[in-house]
Amino acid sequence: MANDTAHDEHYGRVDDPAGAILSALGDPATLTIDDLAPADEFHLGGAAATSAIIDALKVNASDRVLDIGSGLGGPARRIAATTGAHVTGVDLTPSFVAAATALSGRLAMSHNTEFIQGDVTQLDRWGPGVGPFNAATLIHVGMNIPDKKAFFSGVHGLLAPGGRFVVFDIMLTGDPTEIAYPMPFASRLDNSFLESPSSYVDALTGAGFHVNEPVDQTPLARDAAASTRAASPPPVSLATVMGPGFATMFAKVGAALSAGLIAPVQIVATR
Ligand SMILES: C[S@@+](CC[C@H](N)C(=O)[O-])C[C@H]1O[C@@H](n2cnc3c(N)ncnc32)[C@H](O)[C@@H]1O
Repeated sequence: MANDTAHDEHYGRVDDPAGAILSALGDPATLTIDDLAPADEFHLGGAAATSAIIDALKVNASDRVLDIGSGLGGPARRIAATTGAHVTGVDLTPSFVAAATALSGRLAMSHNTEFIQGDVTQLDRWGPGVGPFNAATLIHVGMNIPDKKAFFSGVHGLLAPGGRFVVFDIMLTGDPTEIAYPMPFASRLDNSFLESPSSYVDALTGAGFHVNEPVDQTPLARDAAASTRAASPPPVSLATVMGPGFATMFAKVGAALSAGLIAPVQIVATR
């Protein structure tokens, strides 16, 4: 599938993210999902936020989960390892899909995780044969999706009745013109599609979902960041996969969070 150049220049900065991560870790004989987490859980709150999503998903070993915008595959592997469910990840960035596949192979998780390259704004073109899935996740991806209602309708069509869809995105809580770019999810304002929690609820409801009250996960993200700061620095981080400019982008997230312009928000929707 053809790539959006701005998107690939933003996320596809490091040619071989899996190689960079494994080399920085010293390619140990025993490798765990927690060793990879500082580099492959690409969202605020890291592994702790994914664990909260897993609690909300309510899936088990007989279920199939779709992870939309799966990145390096950290959330998909944590969901599979924790619940036994089979997880299919889809992502637009070819180098991320290759890295997710390689890291799952390295962890002997190719049987319960798979990663495919595709544009999730075109879910309606996937056609019959894909799905149904028992649950789906969208973790820090909606900021790159302009027409959320159309996209959520596509997700609705891929879920089995009663299936849960857990959204965990950075959402707009203040004046968008005060936000400084580049951010970790978008290099410029014109490829950023931040929306408020109430806009998400309206789009999900309009797509046919039953929607729970949004939960602001800022406290969870702050606690996770404080734990990371208190521990010795891990050998890998998101800079390993996004390059040296990541620290500057991440500082802009911190500033926008502190100013109340954005917040990491979780919404549980049910088909
Ligand atoms: C901030 S990362 C989050 C990755 C992963 N969900 C996680 O939490 O670790 C955002 C991801 O969304 C992907 N993405 C953005 N727009 C997309 C689209 N239209 N279709 C598929 N993937 C997309 C990017 O390639 C990137 O991997």
